[in-house]
Amino acid sequence: MNTNEKIENLKNELEVKLKNVTCMKELTDLKVEYLGKKGYVTELSSLMKDLSVEEKKAFGKSLNELRNYVEEKISFLKEKLEEAELNMKLERESIDITLPATKLSVGITHPLTKIINDIEDLFISMGYDVVEGPEVENDLYNFELLNVPVGHPARDMQDSLFINEEILMRTQTSSVQVRTMLQNKEKSPIRIICPGKVYRKDDDDATHSHEFHQIEGLVVDKDVSMNHLKGTLEILAKKMFGENREIRFRPSYFPFTEPSVEVDVSCFKCNGEGCNICKGTGWIEVLGAGMVHPNVLKGCGYDPKKYMGYAFGVGVERIAMLKYEIPDIREFYTNDMRFLEQFNVIEGGDSNESK
Ligand code: DAH
Repeated sequence: MNTNEKIENLKNELEVKLKNVTCMKELTDLKVEYLGKKGYVTELSSLMKDLSVEEKKAFGKSLNELRNYVEEKISFLKEKLEEAELNMKLERESIDITLPATKLSVGITHPLTKIINDIEDLFISMGYDVVEGPEVENDLYNFELLNVPVGHPARDMQDSLFINEEILMRTQTSSVQVRTMLQNKEKSPIRIICPGKVYRKDDDDATHSHEFHQIEGLVVDKDVSMNHLKGTLEILAKKMFGENREIRFRPSYFPFTEPSVEVDVSCFKCNGEGCNICKGTGWIEVLGAGMVHPNVLKGCGYDPKKYMGYAFGVGVERIAMLKYEIPDIREFYTNDMRFLEQFNVIEGGDSNESK
């Protein structure tokens, strides 16, 4: 076999071998087999030394052509293999977008918390402090110092859960009024609100719960008048029920305030014309308030001749039930997602609200 025939042979063999290559590794091996230090092409060039000068020239050219031929063939197949591998990888990693997406449920602020947060923000903006008091309370703070001594008929109005003769579950956040005044040793002016849970010995039904929330307000200062109380509660009513709301005072009775009032807000649904919410009167009762009774001031160490004050107590559930037209108070505590999720829509999804 002369050298040209050998070269032709190598080319033909390469064609056959290339056809059998299935992966990169086999291709690299094949490259070494032909172009490596001990490969066929190198082996062939060792024949050079036995040739004449003329023959060397021609053989050298043929060898170069062979080398180029092998390299081209191999790199062509290399590209093909790489492309095939990439396609396989893409196929393997493709995302099936026909699968239904997992529904992400993000929590939202509970309607009662939302109302408490809103009222806190409002009063903080007016310079009030937010304070808290214990839910297990002393009779002294829940009744006695609020001008409700033992035997006082007003105790009957609040069905209390007593733990022993002196200790009970607080029936009203008004107890925090007493605590705040007693704790203030300098007897300086006070401006606080206190949100929290209160307890009554009630059978639960659509409008009663043995456990509910109140927000208490107390201002003690020199020269405080009923006018300040009215102005403050008007701002509160507007914040809760809309800018066009008006309020009115109706005389009432609470042992710890004198005078005492029930506060009505003009109906936010019918604007005073009369509807099912305001029961045709145009007004809705929303809270109790009044000027702090001198006996309460005195009992808590404030001189009623120098100091006066006003107080108010709001039922949070009542506000929420009116505002969102919720017919049953138990909805707030049973955590039915279908009920709670509605507030995401009503409040425009304030789920990220942090407090
Ligand atoms: N503590 C009263 C209640 O639970 C509500 C209340 C009325 C609070 C008048 C007050 C007030 O501070 O001045 O029914």
